[in-house]
Amino acid sequence: MTIKISGTGSALPEKILTNKDLEQMVETSDAWISERTGIKERHIAKGSFAYGRSHEAPQSRRGLPQAELEGREESVASLSAEACRRALADAGRTAEEVDLILLATCSPEMLLPCSACQVQSAIGAKNAVAFDINAACSGFLFALQTAHAYIVSGMYRNALIIGAEVLSKIVDWEDRGTCVLFGDGAGAVFVEASEDDHTGILSMTAGSDGSRGGVLYCRERSVDYADIFEDQGIHICMNGGEVYKFAVRQVPDCIEKALAKIDLAPGDIDQFVLHQANLRIIEAIAKRLHVGMEHFPYNVDRVGNTSSAAIPLLLDELNKSGRIQKGQLLVLSGFGAGLTYGACVVRW
Ligand code: UT7
Repeated sequence: MTIKISGTGSALPEKILTNKDLEQMVETSDAWISERTGIKERHIAKGSFAYGRSHEAPQSRRGLPQAELEGREESVASLSAEACRRALADAGRTAEEVDLILLATCSPEMLLPCSACQVQSAIGAKNAVAFDINAACSGFLFALQTAHAYIVSGMYRNALIIGAEVLSKIVDWEDRGTCVLFGDGAGAVFVEASEDDHTGILSMTAGSDGSRGGVLYCRERSVDYADIFEDQGIHICMNGGEVYKFAVRQVPDCIEKALAKIDLAPGDIDQFVLHQANLRIIEAIAKRLHVGMEHFPYNVDRVGNTSSAAIPLLLDELNKSGRIQKGQLLVLSGFGAGLTYGACVVRW
C-alpha cells in the first residue's frame, strides 16, 4: 500500500519585490542576483520590513480572538489556509473529511498554538489532528513521508500536507548575502491511500546531519535571547558556499539511492521537482545526474527560495498548468538547514 497526491493548491502574497527594488535597499544589482541565483523577483507578505510597514499584533493575557489565531492577512496560517482550500477543491474533498493536517514551516507567527491548528480552525477541518513539522527546506518532504507512514499504518485515511513560510520577517534586510534569496508563500497537497501500489509514492530516502547545523541557522527571537546574544543570529545566517557544496553533493546521492531501491535510474524520470534554492544548484544537480535541464522545471526566478513551500508551490504550478500527466514519474527532493535532505519517487 502507498499514498497518492490527489489535489494541489498554493497561495502567494500579492506584493512582488524585484531585484531592481532590492538595488534600492542594499548594495546589490539585478545582474549579480540573476547570474548567481537565477532569481528575478519574489513575493513578500504584508507586514514585513520589506513591505514598507511594521505590524503590531494585538496581545492579551486572557486570550487572542479566534480571528487572530486563524491568521492575519498573508501570514503563514492564512496563506496555508488558502492553499489548503484550493488543494481540497482540486481533490474534490471537503474540510470535514480531512483526518490529518501536517504543516511544515520554520517561520510560524506563533510558538503556541502550532500553525497547523490555526489552519484547522480557519478551514473548518474539525475532525483532523493537526501539528507542525520543522525541518526547514526539507520540511514539506519530511511531512509527506510522515503522512505516508501514518496512512500506510492505517492510523489515518488522508492528510493535508502544507509547506508555508513568511521568511521575510526573519531575513536581515541589511544583509545582501541572504536577503536577495528568500521569498514568502504556501503550497499544499491532499494525499490519500492509493488503491494500487504503482500510483503515488514509490520510494523514499531521508537524512539529517545535525553536526553541520551551524552553516544555516536563525535563533528563536524572544527579547531575553536578543539581549544575551546581543542581537546576533536572530535573522537567517548562512554560509552560502557550504550550503551550496552540501546540496550539489547530497541531493544527487539521495535521489540515486531512492531510485535504486525500485530499480530505476535518473534517465527514467520525467520531471525532477527540486527544492527551489538557486538555479545554479538545480543546474549542478542535473549535470551530476546526467539529465537534461528540460526535466528540471523551476519557478525560483519568480518566487525565490521559499524554503518548505518551494516543492508544493512548484507542484501546484505544474499540476494546474497541465504540465504533469497521469502516469509520469516524478522525483521530489529537498535539502536545507539542519542539515537535512531527502527524496521521494512518485508516479502521478
Ligand atoms: O535552502 C537552502 C538555502 N541556501 C542556499 O541555497 C544557498 C546556497 N548558496 C548559494 O546559492 C551561493 O553560495 C550564494 C548565491 C548565496 C552566493 O553565491 P557565491 O557565488 O557563493 O558568492 P559568494 O558568497 O562567494 O560572494 C562573492 C562576492 C563577495 O564579494 P567579494 O568578497 O568577492 O568582494 C560577496 O560579498 O559577491 C558578494 N555578494 C554580493 N554582491 C552583490 C554577496 N551577495 C551579494 C549581493 N549582491 N546580493
